[in-house]
Order: sequence, then structure tokens, then C-alpha cells
Amino acid sequence: MDYPLTFNGKEFLLRRYPETSQSSLRPFSNAELLVLREVKEKISTEDIHLFNDRFGIWNCALHQANLTTIWNYASQKKAVMQNLERNRLPYTPNTFKTPLDRLKSVGLALIKVPKSTALFELFLRQIHLASDQHTEVVCGLMTKYFNPSLLIIASMYFEEVSQSLAWKKARLLILKNPKKKMLRNELINTISWKNHIFKQYFGVFSSGKIDLGTQFLLKNLNIKADEAQILDLGSGNGIIAWESSRLNPKAQLTLIDDSILAIASSTQNVKNAHFLCDDILTQLPHRHFDLVLSNPPFHFEHEHNIEVSLNLFKQVRSCLKPNGRFILVANKHLNYTTHLQRMFTKVSQLKCNRRFEVLECTDYL
Ligand SMILES: C[S@@+](CC[C@H](N)C(=O)[O-])C[C@H]1O[C@@H](n2cnc3c(N)ncnc32)[C@H](O)[C@@H]1O
Repeated sequence: MDYPLTFNGKEFLLRRYPETSQSSLRPFSNAELLVLREVKEKISTEDIHLFNDRFGIWNCALHQANLTTIWNYASQKKAVMQNLERNRLPYTPNTFKTPLDRLKSVGLALIKVPKSTALFELFLRQIHLASDQHTEVVCGLMTKYFNPSLLIIASMYFEEVSQSLAWKKARLLILKNPKKKMLRNELINTISWKNHIFKQYFGVFSSGKIDLGTQFLLKNLNIKADEAQILDLGSGNGIIAWESSRLNPKAQLTLIDDSILAIASSTQNVKNAHFLCDDILTQLPHRHFDLVLSNPPFHFEHEHNIEVSLNLFKQVRSCLKPNGRFILVANKHLNYTTHLQRMFTKVSQLKCNRRFEVLECTDYL
């Protein structure tokens, strides 16, 4: 569904990618609109760095400025490109950088505050490294997602941290005057698991601990000796792939995740594997995998939505060998069995506890 936006006398149409059947979900919030109101006067003169422009509203509305988009998700990059194309606005590969790329110099940066405060810190750290005394950061968020630790983190990097008044339930944090001397924090968290240290960049799923659902899957994971091609779907820091190679050292591993920080983390934890940053499975070989393993996503930022997972499940079939298995762990309340039974010939519950279940899906009886 297309949503109109008028900014500085120009009209734009914006659409979410991936699309959703939930009509209440829009491709922008009042937080992004409030940021646009704030920077309206500055756009002709500035190089602007955009962080977490989820569907591309800022890329479209501010296209006259010299923009750099820091993308975190493959799906986000696609959404931005599709909305630029929809509005016939040009872009080049140089428009896009990842959160780990070093930036040359940042004058004005806009941040849609992410749910993960660690990711917010990673953004600020990258900005700070490329800052000068005039650098200004305008952060937009919906007031209901305000968290005092945002102010603490912002104050670690900037001398002046102020808040705007609320406008339509949104508000701004404005950061000025970067700190001159500061300790350079590491961007990586470490997690100890079975005498192995996992590394993951700030903002990757389940920082500081292995997710309980993942632990339940790993505890109950059996891999057959002839399951040679294994896909870790939504791989995060790569722990499921890592455990798979421990259980079957001959297995060839492929990891796919929408998050570039997840993929960058997993390359540090899992050796001799294929890594792909994408939100769909079409780039993977057809009918190739003996086993697909997943702790699938069911929320994106503050939105809880199983549509993304259901779409991934539909695609799993086409990359599984005819006698392959798809094993996933999920919160029981999501009731995935009903959905999976429409897609696979057989769905069995292998294990369950109070919160989680491990399901096995096959196309043979
Ligand atoms: C519940 S986490 C699991 C992470 C990791 N496997 C673990 O167990 O710790 C789900 C992962 O799916 C990723 N993800 C979200 N949407 C995706 C998509 N459309 N395609 C691939 N990965 C996706 C998220 O970035 C996140 O890393």
C-alpha cells in the first residue's frame, strides 16, 4: 500500500518492504516526520548521514542534499532503493554504507532511534569517530519508546544533549558538541558458551547471552550423519551453525541473516561456511539443503509480526531436498504448527517445555 508524503512542496509515495497485510503499519512514523520538520531549513547546505531510515522516507524527502545511508538490514536497503525508484529519485552505490564502515566526516546525522540501545550506541560511536566541533545529531523517537539509558549513552559521546517538546507523541533528542576526550568502547559483546567465546557486534539479536529458545533448540538437536548441507536461517551470531558443525564436522554450512551486523558477527564465530546477508531465500540453491535450522524472527524493532517468518517458511520448502528436514524452535504461543501444516506434508513436535517447542517439518510421511 502506498502512503503519500508532502515535504517542502513535493509529493512522494512510500511503501513498506516487505509489504504487510496489517494496514495499521505505515512506512514512516511521526518520529521521522518530526525529524524532517527539524531539519527542513538545513537540507540545501549539508551532507547528511541517515541512520535507521527504515523504509526510506528521509532518503526521498531529503534527496536534494548529499545523503549517505547507513543500512543495517538487507530488507531496509531494498526498501530504500524501491522507494527512491518509485519516486524517480537517483542513487548510486556510494549512497549506502554499513554501520561498520568508517565515515569520513559527519556534519549532520539523523537517527531514527532503534529499539536496541546498543545499536544506538554503535551509531553514535561511528558518528563520533567522524565528528568535528560542529557535528550535530538529530534523533527521532516515539515518546512511548523513550528510555533514560538513551540519554546516558548520548552523554557519553556529546557534551550537549537536549530533548524537544513532544509533537504527535514523538520527540527529538538533539546532540551537539562531541566530547573531545573519551574512551573508545569496543563495538563487540562476547558471550561464553561451551568453552567457546562468541563475538557479536552491538545490535545483534540477544546481546550478552544465548537466547533461551536457541538454548532449547541446541539442547535437543540431533543431526544425522548424512545431513551434509545445513542452512542456519536467521543466523544471528551463528551459534546454531557452530553447534551443527560440532555435531557433524563434515557438514557444509550456510548462514543467512537480514542483518549485516549479524553476518559480520557470525563470520568471526563460524569458520569454513557460506554467509549471505539477505531477507529472502531466492539466492540460495534450489532443493539443496538436507537440513534447515532456525530460531525465526517474530518481531522487527517494536513491531510484533509473524508475517516475515511465515514468508520465510514458505521459501524453505524450495531450498530443501525432497527428503530434507526443517527444524525450528518457537515460542509456543505463536502456534506455528497450524501455519506450517498448510506448507509441509508432516509437522511434528520433537520437544517442548513451558515456553518453547521444537518442530520438525518434512515433505515425506
Ligand atoms: C530470533 S533471532 C535468532 C538469531 C540466532 N539464530 C540465534 O539463535 O541466536 C532471528 C534472526 O533472524 C534475522 N532475520 C530477521 N528477518 C529475517 C529475514 N527476512 N531473513 C533472514 N533473517 C532474518 C534477525 O536479524 C535475527 O538475527
